[in-house]
Parts: sequence; structure tokens; C-alpha cells
Amino acid sequence: MSTLKSLGVSKKEGKRLKTQAIGFAAESMRNLGISLSDSTLITICITAGTSISILLSAIHVAQGKIPYAVLIQVLFLAGECLRPMNDLSIYWHNSYTGLSVAEELMYVLDYPVSEKPKENLQNTGIGKKPEIVLQNLSFQYEKDGADVLKNVDMVFESGKVTAIAGKSGSGKSTIVNLLLGFYETEKNRIQIDGKTLESFEPDYLRSQISVVFQDSFLFYGTVKDNIRMARPEATDAEIMQAAMAANAHEFIVNLPNGYDTLVGERGATLSGGERQRIAIARAILKNAPILILDEATSSVDCKNEQEIQNALKEAMKDRTTLVIAHRMTTIEDADKIYVMQNGHVEGCGTHEELLQKDQIYQNLVRAQSYE
Ligand SMILES: Nc1ncnc2c1ncn2[C@@H]1O[C@H](COP(=O)(O)OP(=O)(O)O)[C@@H](O)[C@H]1O
Ligand SMILES: [Mg+2]
Repeated sequence: MSTLKSLGVSKKEGKRLKTQAIGFAAESMRNLGISLSDSTLITICITAGTSISILLSAIHVAQGKIPYAVLIQVLFLAGECLRPMNDLSIYWHNSYTGLSVAEELMYVLDYPVSEKPKENLQNTGIGKKPEIVLQNLSFQYEKDGADVLKNVDMVFESGKVTAIAGKSGSGKSTIVNLLLGFYETEKNRIQIDGKTLESFEPDYLRSQISVVFQDSFLFYGTVKDNIRMARPEATDAEIMQAAMAANAHEFIVNLPNGYDTLVGERGATLSGGERQRIAIARAILKNAPILILDEATSSVDCKNEQEIQNALKEAMKDRTTLVIAHRMTTIEDADKIYVMQNGHVEGCGTHEELLQKDQIYQNLVRAQSYE
């Protein structure tokens, strides 16, 4: 509503909604009319059929053609014999409801699945501080589409923090999508602890990676359930610990029901920063050897960001971390920073080194200081 109001189109959109609602009402009445008339017809048929058979048997009994007991049997059987007609009419109606959604359902069912079941997939082999190597990695989302990544070479060293900087659209999140195995790439381009990404079972691979995305999804349910999702067997104490580490505990206990407060669909009742801190608590609770933060703190204000940053420092210890950030302040401390532009790696080094020698990085930093 606030978007519509601020764009001044709420009246227009309201009219559109009204037209559609009227159309829907008319269709519903038509639908009701048809189903009512045919169920009336079926009921008449069944009632008439039963009555006629009883009438005929009664006449036969009166004429002494059949014994009296048969009349009682007919009484019971006539209704039963005609019942399938009623069932048929119900199925007929259901089949039309089914047909009306079948097209969309088939679209989903027929959609090509990238994850074909493969043989000999491993569900071990990623250590406590894995090393990740991207080797000459190129990628396009669509066949014969533009290259989103072009010959990318990167190494995320074991137990270190590696950052990727670059304008939006330069391909940073695409690397995250590939690491999570959401898309297929050429074989052997990504290696984790010396083993190729394709050799891992997708579920295992994802269990080894904690990700905080820019826009985190909260599900309808309590705050506690939303955090626990990362590790269903976690105790309440562990959940609270993770929330404290993510600097979320304080605001959570101030919610009407604390950890048991219901959050709306997509977390609509919380602010962007609060949602994000819950997502970070989730990632901390998951406690996976690889931690990826994809613009994780971009919707958090500066003061909170600093606090979360400190908490994240704790979480980054003893694991391999990839930080993607559009605020340079969040990646200054990284052990190594890659600078990306248009899907290319254009530079690499520490913050100080890049400030000295890398034009693109200097521009990124300069753009920031005007924000
Ligand atoms: N699912 C997708 N399908 C097609 N193109 C995509 C998809 N996701 C991202 N892209 C395109 O890939 C490029 C890189 O996007 P992305 O990796 O999200 O950049 P960044 O995270 O650096 O902002 C952009 O040009 C974007 O439009
Ligand atoms: Mg991105």
C-alpha cells in the first residue's frame, strides 16, 4: 500500500482490482449455476430411478409375480445402484477444477531440473577450514547468453576472510549461486579442499555452507522457529547464544512475546535490519565451515553494522569466509580482496595495496565516501 500511495496510483490500481473482482464474481456465479443445475439433474435422476424401481417392484408384488421379501431388497439396492451417478458428477466437477490449474502445474512439473541424480556423490570430504579454488570459471545464466563470469580465478584460503568488491551487476552473487550448486558449470572449475564441486551431494554441500543473503527470507512462525531452522536440533540456549552473537537478542526480548513472537509472512512485521540480524543468527547457529555474507549488512544502519561486524568477526574465526559488501568499511579487514568488474577479476590484494595501485578499487572507495 505504501508503494502504491507514494506513486499516487492507488486509485488506478484499486479500479483494476475492482474490475477483476467483478469478473471473478461473475465467473463464480456462472460456475455455481452450472454445478447447481447438473447436481439438481442428478438428484432428480437418482430419486426418480429409485422411485420407479420401487413402484415397479410394488406392482409386481401386488400381482404376486415376485415374493414380498424382494421388495425390501429393491428398497435397499435401488439407492446403492444409483449412487455411482452421484459420485460421477462429483468427479466431473473436480476434474474441471483440476483442468483449470493443470496448465500451470504441468509447467512446474515439466520445468527442466538442473540437479539430475548422479552416481557416486560424496557426502564427506569438506574439512573444518576448507580451501575453495575457482579456476578459469566462466558462466552464463542462459544458453548462448552473455557471459556473467569470464575466466574468473580466485582462491578463498583456508580459515581466512576473502572479500569481493565490485559494482552491482559485476557477478558477485553469481559466484555465491555457483558455490551453492544452484547452477551447473563446466566441470572441475570449482574445487573445495581439492575435490570438485560436482562430486559432492548437493544437500551435503549446502550443509557445509552458511549464507546470509542481502534480502533474507523469514517464514511465518515465531522468531525462535526462524532461527532454529538452521539447525532443528538446537536447544533454546544455543538459539539465544546465536542471537546474542548476531546482536539480535536485545531487540528480540523487547518484542511482545520475546522469542515466541510471531513474525508475519516474509518477516513483514520486522524492520530490514532486524530481519537481517535474525538471518545472521541463523547462519551463526548453523555453524558450517564455510560462511558467506552476500551484502549481509547493507540494510542495517551504520551503528548496528559496526556491532554486527564485531559479532561476525567472532563467527569468522576458525572457518573460511567470503564477504561480499558494497560498503567498503566492511571489507577493509579482509585478508584478501578481489575486485570485480563486468564478470572479470580486475585486481586482488589487501585494502592498503588496492588503495595504492587499483584504479577501480579507488573509484569504489571514492564513490562510498560521498554516500
Ligand atoms: N537468475 C538470473 N538469470 C539471468 N541473469 C541473471 C540472474 N541473476 C543475475 N543475473 C545477471 O547477472 C549479472 C550479475 O549479477 P549478480 O551476480 O547478481 O551481480 P552482483 O551480485 O555483483 O550485483 C547481472 O547482469 C544480472 O542481471
Ligand atoms: Mg549481489
